[in-house]
Amino acid sequence: MIMSDDPVADAPPSVVLGVGGGIAAYKAAELLRRLRAHGLDVTVVPTRAALRFVGEPTWSALSGKPVSAEVWDDVHDVPHVRLGQQASLVVVAPATADLLARAAHGLADDLLGNVLLTASCPIVMAPAMHTEMWEHGATQANVATLRSRGIIVLDPAVGRLTGADSGPGRLPEPDVIAEVCFAVLSGSKADLVGKRFVVSAGGTREALDPVRYLGNRSSGKQGYAIAAAAIARGAQVTLVSANVNLPAPAGSTVVPVQSAQELLVEMVNRSTDCDVIVMAAAVADFRPSTVSEHKIKKHDDGASPTIELERTTDVLAELVTGRGDATRPVIVGFAAETGDQHGDVLEHGKAKLRRKGCDLLVVNDVSDGKVFGRDQNEVVILTAQGGLIEVPSSSKAQIADRVVDTIVSTLNLDR
Ligand code: CTP
Repeated sequence: MIMSDDPVADAPPSVVLGVGGGIAAYKAAELLRRLRAHGLDVTVVPTRAALRFVGEPTWSALSGKPVSAEVWDDVHDVPHVRLGQQASLVVVAPATADLLARAAHGLADDLLGNVLLTASCPIVMAPAMHTEMWEHGATQANVATLRSRGIIVLDPAVGRLTGADSGPGRLPEPDVIAEVCFAVLSGSKADLVGKRFVVSAGGTREALDPVRYLGNRSSGKQGYAIAAAAIARGAQVTLVSANVNLPAPAGSTVVPVQSAQELLVEMVNRSTDCDVIVMAAAVADFRPSTVSEHKIKKHDDGASPTIELERTTDVLAELVTGRGDATRPVIVGFAAETGDQHGDVLEHGKAKLRRKGCDLLVVNDVSDGKVFGRDQNEVVILTAQGGLIEVPSSSKAQIADRVVDTIVSTLNLDR
């Protein structure tokens, strides 16, 4: 490690963790641990209501610092101005409907309100409340106001709420919030906050009998790298994962599938509630017409069985058709191509983009078994508007970043 002579420059980034008065306040304790484990200097600033859910000793013990909700403590130190001014990041979790409203209107009747008004660093807010409160016009207007000022307001997660009810309103998991914080602190672009991605990855398997299948060589590395790149930029990502043997990217939701039909069902079900679909999976084009109930046996006469195949549904085409004239979700296809007597890899890619009708097509040259399972890749990204972005040999993570850059540009297109 290179040390400078300036002790301030060597100090860990200071983060203010604002905690709102909601039942999810207890989850902020887990977020605090993660931020501290990352080497960050964290000052907790709860609201008065938050202290009714989780008390001052918890925050103080976990942060190693004194904790106050008021502007009247340690006044000589002017904490209501100093904390916001010195912070590298302010993260608020949970951000209740009331707290979002107060932040949107610049109210400062407690320490957190003052911090939010004096902070010039990035601010991340992770809402949690009942679905009705989240969907109320007042809350949505406040969120829009905060986002228009550059504040990163995450979308709440969908799931079980305080009572028996469920819906959008759950606090995003602490590790998801932490990943957004780390990405923001590392200077990474947070241009996908609030965007929902559904990414298919891996290769489907089509059963022949209880023990055999027809499969392909896709490792899932590129799809997983795209999921990780989107998460690092603030997106919420569901990975529909076909037979992948890789650790799930932190913060992703993984839905395991086996066959093309299972993948079709999961992708179509999720397509109405997302901003971006990435079809990175290698989906079987054919499957055995019948699946034998019993293991297929060798015959004594030496004859080999004939396997009759039928077409599977083209998932990508189905998603494009289902979208109709809408511009959302943005749909990204992948094309594994080899050149042949009908054209080179690029010509096949351009024809496929037109045929499939997606917004972007990431074209891989798979001649001679390149790509599969490797860590390096080389692609061309084609856009429906006629754009062509060449990405020379790079790691799958770097390629993923370029693909995600192109997705962001497409999301920002005025269509
Ligand atoms: N794809 C799909 N459903 C299928 C086959 C492919 O959704 N049944 C998707 C893949 O996930 C990929 C894109 O279509 O995003 C292109 O896949 P590729 O195998 O290159 O193209 P095919 O449509 O299968 O065309 P061909 O094999 O004839 O080149």
